[in-house]
Order: sequence, then structure tokens, then C-alpha cells
Amino acid sequence: MKFHVLTLFPEMIEQCCAASILGRAQSKGQISVSATNIRDYAENKHGHVDDYPYGGGAGMVMQAGPICRAFDAVTSGIEGEKHPRVIYVTPQGQVFSQKMAQELAREEDLVILCGHYEGVDERALIQIGAEPVSIGDYVLTGGELPALVMIDAIARLVPGVLNNSESAEDESFSDGLLEYPQYTRPEVFRGEAVPEVLLSGHHANIAKWRREQSLIRTGERRPDLLESADLSSKEKRFLQEYMTRDSENT
Ligand code: ADE
Repeated sequence: MKFHVLTLFPEMIEQCCAASILGRAQSKGQISVSATNIRDYAENKHGHVDDYPYGGGAGMVMQAGPICRAFDAVTSGIEGEKHPRVIYVTPQGQVFSQKMAQELAREEDLVILCGHYEGVDERALIQIGAEPVSIGDYVLTGGELPALVMIDAIARLVPGVLNNSESAEDESFSDGLLEYPQYTRPEVFRGEAVPEVLLSGHHANIAKWRREQSLIRTGERRPDLLESADLSSKEKRFLQEYMTRDSENT
């Protein structure tokens, strides 16, 4: 899968994606991340890519010209010149989710536009067919960190990027629930022992305990997720009983 990032800070994208699992995936040719500097497509000698907003107001707006020219340069390099999916990272977008990551991981090419200043001329977004996506209800100084968050979440779902021990199978959100607690050696740490069942070697009991822990954790931390999780009536009863017991004890 190829990520094409349009940005004013290409080094932020390149440096982050050169490290760790994304770096390894790039070396193996499983993904590629290229960052195009929008400023290279300015047509004035100062390299300005922003201007005052029509109608007044604070801040500067990124101009349509440099963005559209950078986009054309990127897409002309895509095989068959197919129109790729284009994401514009902005707090005004639909909120990014694991489901969206799974859907985007099936794309061959993905263009991500990072904004700065007060925003981007709306005509650029229409011209390049950008879909607005937010990573959460807070405002950052620019789109580079959101773009990196999305690239990381999508890339790890591309087949082969994670090896067996890093596998994405049994983890938070994959079945609509939060992941169960994990433990490793030592068996006792500062007086706190690992739950007995995990040492038993009894696979069915371990699986049952983990499922219950996932249910409890989701109920306590993210009850909103339970509405769309796929739970059996036995699991619903278990959770109901646990939550009633828990609220009686507090
Ligand atoms: N740019 C600034 N804040 C953002 C956010 N929360 N999500 C996506 N892009 C952004």
C-alpha cells in the first residue's frame, strides 16, 4: 500500500515512518510513505502558500493552487492515473475509527492532505475530492500528527506488516470490546500476583477469564462500545450482574 502525504513539513512524516514497524514495512516493500512538500508548488518567489481569508477573520488560509498542483504531481505518478481516495485531516471531519482503518487498508494508494493555519481553501478540497477525517475532538497545530496516527493504524492492518507475535487478531476493538489485562514475568511484582488462572495452562478457562475481563473493562471504561458489541445473552447477564455487584460495593 502506498501513502502519499501532502504537507508543509515532509520531514515530520518521513522521520516518523522510517522508525519501528513502519520503517521495517517500508524496507520490506509492504508499504511506502512519500511526503510531498506543498511549498514546492508555490508559484511566487517567496514560496508563500497561504493568504488572508476572504470575509476577514483571524489567521491565514492555505491557497488552492499549490495544493492542487502538488496533488496533480502525486496522482500523475500513480499507476493508470487512477483517482485515489483522498483524506483531508481536520477537526471538522468524521471521527477516525478501527473500522475506517480496516476499510482504508484495502486501498492501493491513499493521499492524505495535512492542513495548517486556519484551514484550506474549500475549492482545493472539492477539486481533489477530499474526505474530511478527524482523529478526535481536540484541536492540534497541524495535520501531520493526525496523518501519522492514521498511517500507523492503517499500515499495521496491511497483510504481512505485523509478524505472528505482533498479530492484530486478539486486540482491542477487533471484536468491539477492549482488550483483557496482560501479565508477564515475574509471577509476583511488589506483592501483586498474576491471576492464578493464567498459570493453570487450562486454555478454556483462560479464554473464559479473558473474555470476562474484556467485558468488565469495556463496561467500566467504555460502556458506549457495548451497544454495538456482539454479546451472547449469557455475556449480557454476566455483565449486568457484575455491574450491579460493583455499584453495590462502591
Ligand atoms: N488538525 C488539527 N486538529 C486535528 C484533529 N483533531 N484531527 C485531524 N486533523 C486535525
